[in-house]
Amino acid sequence: MQNNTFPTLFVGQNIEKLAEVDSTNNYLKLLLSNCEPPAHGTVIMAVKQYAGRGQHGNEWLSAAGKNLTISCYLKTDFIHALNQFNLNKVVSLAVYDCLNKFFNDKCYIKWPNDIYVGNKKICGILIENRIQGQYLKDSIIGIGINVNQVFFGDNHHITSLATELKRQFDLNELLKTLCICLEKRFLELKKGFSNEQHKMYLENLFRYRVTSAFNIQNTLINGKITGVDDAGRLKVEINGQEKLFEMKEISFIL
Ligand code: BTN
Repeated sequence: MQNNTFPTLFVGQNIEKLAEVDSTNNYLKLLLSNCEPPAHGTVIMAVKQYAGRGQHGNEWLSAAGKNLTISCYLKTDFIHALNQFNLNKVVSLAVYDCLNKFFNDKCYIKWPNDIYVGNKKICGILIENRIQGQYLKDSIIGIGINVNQVFFGDNHHITSLATELKRQFDLNELLKTLCICLEKRFLELKKGFSNEQHKMYLENLFRYRVTSAFNIQNTLINGKITGVDDAGRLKVEINGQEKLFEMKEISFIL
């Protein structure tokens, strides 16, 4: 474990850099089950993940040494389990803030918590919470940002900082910015600014209030995103009627 010089109170004050690991989220889980939990804000960073995990059991592929693949351990016991989507908003807004320093408002948060540049994904987020009673206990925040990788095979809906901005980026500098942004948004929520964060999340949401095509039960349907409820379900207006969708029930046609 390395002590850091990031100008933060806790996020990134302890950083463990691993040459190779299955998944940084799995590694943090193992730390949690083994001994005393890591310090609040501990970050695990991997040069290479050989079994990186994405949402819905998908794999997360990332070229070794080129991207940010990190997990951050946070004590989240002030968040009611019914409001756990507030944490998704915190992390989405933090990555959005971090990347928008380079993109000047060209980034979007794609529901529930991907970050897009134009209509291409640049970052994925995997949050795993432990619940104790009615509240969260703690959370593992997994973040994968495509940074210096420029070849993504046949998938034309993935991009990176280097692809978009035609230069290479220092991963440690980017990590520092990310840690600062994450801590700022986390403390904002802790101080009770969830309504403001909800508003900002919607303001920066991909295709918010724009009629666009969705895949719902294998059918192409036009609809307009009108909001996100407290449970994190997407509100979509279809033929003048507002409907609610869970994560697996709807996908965007890009
Ligand atoms: C997604 O968009 O499906 C979420 C991807 C999350 C990837 C990150 S990379 C660091 C951390 N470790 C993992 O195994 N997954 C997350």
